[in-house]
Amino acid sequence: MFRILNKEVLAPSVIRLEIEVPDIERKAKAGQFVILRIDESGERIPLTISGFNEERGSISLVFQEVGKTTRQLASLSSEDCIADIVGPLGRPSEIENFGTVACVAGGVGAAVILPVAQALKKAGNKIITILGARNKELLILEDELCSISDEFFVTTDDGSKGHCGVCTDVLNELIAGGQGINRVVAIGPAIMMKFVCKTTEPHKIKTVVSLNSIMVDGTGMCGSCRVTVGGETKFCCVDGPEFDGHLVDFDELMNRQKIYLEEENLALKSYETRDVKRTECRCKAQKEEGER
Ligand SMILES: Cc1cc2nc3c(=O)[nH]c(=O)nc-3n(C[C@H](O)[C@H](O)[C@H](O)COP(=O)(O)OP(=O)(O)OC[C@H]3O[C@@H](n4cnc5c(N)ncnc54)[C@H](O)[C@@H]3O)c2cc1C
Ligand code: FES
Repeated sequence: MFRILNKEVLAPSVIRLEIEVPDIERKAKAGQFVILRIDESGERIPLTISGFNEERGSISLVFQEVGKTTRQLASLSSEDCIADIVGPLGRPSEIENFGTVACVAGGVGAAVILPVAQALKKAGNKIITILGARNKELLILEDELCSISDEFFVTTDDGSKGHCGVCTDVLNELIAGGQGINRVVAIGPAIMMKFVCKTTEPHKIKTVVSLNSIMVDGTGMCGSCRVTVGGETKFCCVDGPEFDGHLVDFDELMNRQKIYLEEENLALKSYETRDVKRTECRCKAQKEEGER
């Protein structure tokens, strides 16, 4: 059982949980993820490690409520527990001094890019961050990302903050202005990563993306996370989650992300119509029972 030390609402339906899990905190590196199961009957879901706290032996996970398990996770509070957390999984991000790196984050991708941008900054890179969201309410981790960026841009689809439009508009302008970008890291919805790659490909700027394919075991056994990269089948959980974006078949990824849509909708419907909506934390209940 792993205790939640802190819970924070970053934006509507976007939550940050700090979880005490010292064994994972000690080993984890930027770019890696965990797979968690809320309780014994729960589904396993992958979430990227967004922050580390050595003193408290904790990691932070930031997630968006999109379906049954993320909604159930959002119903937990500080001091509640999570049954299983496996990790760190996946290959860490490639961190070295590349020169100037543009970090392009869309929506909750900001949480995934944050530890990568921090590590790249520490390695001596100049960091240009472009943070995009549909509207200003959905922008997350602005202060954290801004504080480690040499240049920082915000874009919103509706123009409620920063540049009105999408993050590729700003990236295009920077490239056209001769910014001398040596590498791009793009993390967000698959469609956004696809268009960032289309923007950088003609300029031959190496572009790294983090893929969120459907995962089950997270250890290379089940094949559910397979993606096509450079014409070869790769397993996102063990070969990734980061890949050279110019080689990724994004259309296949987006199609595969939808294969369980019917089951996911059914699971959410049945969760929402349960009598008791809030997930009871068993270890907390046991502790209270012992105190009585
Ligand atoms: C390596 C990796 C890291 C991720 N990191 C984050 C993160 O830091 N923050 C965040 O908000 N989300 C992250 N995701 C996506 C997250 O795992 C899904 O949003 C979550 O599993 C949805 O579960 P659900 O039951 O709430 O929704 P569901 O209704 O079950 O699914 C909603 C959508 O989420 C995706 N999804 C569902 N099940 C899985 C699964 N087992 N594996 C992967 N995707 C799934 C599918 O596209 C699906 O259509 C990551 C995914 C991967 C592969
Ligand atoms: S999640 Fe099973 S092989 Fe990657």
